[in-house]
Amino acid sequence: MIWKDEYALGIQEIDTQHESLIEFITEFEKAVEGRAHWNSVQPLIARARESVKSHFAVEESLMQIVDYPEFAAHRAEHRHIVEQFAVLEQRVLRQEMNGELLPSVHAWLFRHTIDSDQPFARYAIGNRGDPGRIDTE
Ligand SMILES: [Fe+2]
Ligand SMILES: [Fe+2]
Repeated sequence: MIWKDEYALGIQEIDTQHESLIEFITEFEKAVEGRAHWNSVQPLIARARESVKSHFAVEESLMQIVDYPEFAAHRAEHRHIVEQFAVLEQRVLRQEMNGELLPSVHAWLFRHTIDSDQPFARYAIGNRGDPGRIDTE
């Protein structure tokens, strides 16, 4: 899968991170389709999991700064995705590398970006010019 401008949220740091997550999805798709050995896929997942965690931390900080009303639900989705990474890693270690893994990875990461990150970005950008919304404590 490739990055498209329509996926952009308009917040540079987050867009750059989303682009690299899409690169991970692409690499992972290739690895599964090419029936790569689990020991070449496991480091890819471990790296992606760390990038995802720091990416979520950035988003969650921003949400707190702008007092995002959907913060708790969004954070719960993040936690679910991180848990799914652990499940994915276990499946890869058990050498259950098959096409079934692809839709799930695609769904957690990509659908979350479109369905949950975009509404947050609209909210954050919409409130940017209003100092009353910014909590500086
Ligand atoms: Fe995100
Ligand atoms: Fe998110």
